[in-house]
Amino acid sequence: MNQVEVLAHPNVALIKYWGKRDETEKIPASPSLSITLGGLETRTSVSKSGDDTIFIDGQSVSDQKISQWLDRLRREYDIPQLMIESSNNFPKNCGFASSSSGFAALAVAIDELCGLNLDFASLARITRLGSASAVRSLLSGYVAMNPDDQRCVPVQIVPPDYWNLRVVAAVTSTEPKLTSSTGGMAQTVATSPFYQNWVVQTEDDFERCSEAIQNRDFNTLAELSEANCYRMHALMMTTLPPLRYWRAGTMSAIDTIERLRHDGVPVFFTSDAGPQIKAICEPEAIATVKDALDDTDGVLFTLESDIGNAPTISAR
Ligand code: DP6
Repeated sequence: MNQVEVLAHPNVALIKYWGKRDETEKIPASPSLSITLGGLETRTSVSKSGDDTIFIDGQSVSDQKISQWLDRLRREYDIPQLMIESSNNFPKNCGFASSSSGFAALAVAIDELCGLNLDFASLARITRLGSASAVRSLLSGYVAMNPDDQRCVPVQIVPPDYWNLRVVAAVTSTEPKLTSSTGGMAQTVATSPFYQNWVVQTEDDFERCSEAIQNRDFNTLAELSEANCYRMHALMMTTLPPLRYWRAGTMSAIDTIERLRHDGVPVFFTSDAGPQIKAICEPEAIATVKDALDDTDGVLFTLESDIGNAPTISAR
């Protein structure tokens, strides 16, 4: 086979992962739970080449995270030098989880191109060695990743059509973030006095959130997701040196969502290691939520998404 192209979607965690229990195998310290974002896409094509060459969104890049991952995989698998071309229909490196769809797409493409024939647990492992949150992008719908399952294989809680929630992502900056997730969370583990508490609390949030999804209980899901998101950002701020990913536009977008909910609109927010806000809502509220966020000072633009699918091999 000469070339493989894979389409994958990023995911956004409602119950977050922030901190590893095992740095070598990249095992998170606590369980996490996400939705796969169907409207956001990464297309990655991989072919054999004389040298490793990486193009992201049309630009030649030297991406240390990808290069170190390839070096690691080559210690265990027969993988030739590769030409990798990846493009996203959303901004990358600014808290938009592009590494989740990026590594999911790359792992699936390399498995196929190199004929590795990996079982799902091994595919999840190589994906995790790239980026732990990317493992959740290997499945569609509402997805759990629990490190208590020693292999840390993702599990689908329910498929996309079980609960047709929608997402409006509000982009408040496209500047690359100053501290990567990998580096930031290692600093948190080493320095935040609240880290152990975070791990224990997140285990509880995870169980309750899985149940809320199974019951399609919007209010409980909203309450748990926002609480878990605030706790993660509080934890980040108690790291030394402090990590603060939110900016003025982020706070304005949160104000908008709070006001909408106060007025009875079924919407809540979450936010990762960056200044963007993702608003999750019932389908009938999507236009109201999008209009309100588009009208918010500091919001540059919005992107809409439904709950999406697992990676697909789109061309060989
Ligand atoms: C805030 O998966 O990017 O998005 O495993 O070191 O690559 P590495 O980190 P990464 O961290 C994701 C953090 C998060 C929360 C989440 O997606 O669970």
